Amino acid sequence: MRVLSGIQPSGALHLGNYLAMMKPMISYMDRSQLFVFVVNMHAMTSVTDGEKLAEGTLEAASDFLALGLDPHRSIFWVQSDVPEVVELAWILTCITPMGLLERCHSYKDKVAKGISPNHGLFAYPVLMAADILLYQANVVPVGKDQKQHIEVTRDIAIKFNSIYGDTFIIPEGEISDQVATVPGIDGQKMSKSYGNTIEIFLDEKSLRKRVMSVKTDSIPVDQPKDPETCNLFQIYRHFAPKGRVEEVKRLYIEGGASYGVVKKELAEILWELFRGPRQEKQKLLGDPGYIRSVLADGAKKAREIATPTIEDVRRKIGVKY
Ligand code: ADP
Ligand code: TRP
Repeated sequence: MRVLSGIQPSGALHLGNYLAMMKPMISYMDRSQLFVFVVNMHAMTSVTDGEKLAEGTLEAASDFLALGLDPHRSIFWVQSDVPEVVELAWILTCITPMGLLERCHSYKDKVAKGISPNHGLFAYPVLMAADILLYQANVVPVGKDQKQHIEVTRDIAIKFNSIYGDTFIIPEGEISDQVATVPGIDGQKMSKSYGNTIEIFLDEKSLRKRVMSVKTDSIPVDQPKDPETCNLFQIYRHFAPKGRVEEVKRLYIEGGASYGVVKKELAEILWELFRGPRQEKQKLLGDPGYIRSVLADGAKKAREIATPTIEDVRRKIGVKY
């Protein structure tokens, strides 16, 4: 079984990325053929500073490696190093109905937030479909915000198969209910583009500051509170030990939960949890040549897997004459 997912190098990776995508992907390492890539061409829809994109790409790659992705037990590369994906994206664009893209929430949300849309942002789901279909992936672990993009991918694959004959595997999205949407410090979805993230690799002081700034209400300590609607608890519950989560939940419901105490505890837990990876990341960033060589190896393997599919597609659509 092929499991595939990508991450944009458009800013420092955060707890939402970690819980919904990086952690589940890494856990797949021994159970399937794992494809992980840094989607730098998707990030171009929002990043126009070349130096920043290049740096972000190496940094996102180092984050994944530091968190335990083993390049010997996975295929790990940078999207643009297999340029056939752009060729496939154009081919798929030509059979993608406008209405399918016009309905995409992610596009509409970004426009509503004041991001000025370029054509890349609109066509984004087609490039994502190409990412998934080129490697004939079966399963795509993502957060809830990407669910519709997986449905678009499926629709495009079904349409291509019906026009040109059986070509693509129809992929399944995998979205864990537990971590479908991790809130940011302001209570909206945690996202690099909303400036509300808790980054995985902050220094100790910044991490504490960030956690202390998670927005909470002003209900006094001894009064009951609803853990389900509390941002802080919704982040805390993923990281604290199970027994402690139950205990804090009870304090929320019965009264006695102090936001300040929970925040301090969360900052401590996060600092300890990422201690090893943080050291590993420093080591990796000191040797960018090593990261580049891992990515080059991965791109070679990814391209070998992509080649039979793109050749089949070229033959079917009639550009081989
Ligand atoms: P961002 O929205 O911060 O730019 P990406 O678009 O690069 O993040 O997302 C990478 C992966 O992380 C995707 O699978 C996405 O669904 C997941 N993800 C991002 N933010 C969250 C969140 N707040 N909660 C759950 N999953 C998330
Ligand atoms: N659109 C995804 C996101 O923003 C990233 C992405 C690009 C992706 N191509 C992909 C995810 C292919 C899974 C599979 O999170």
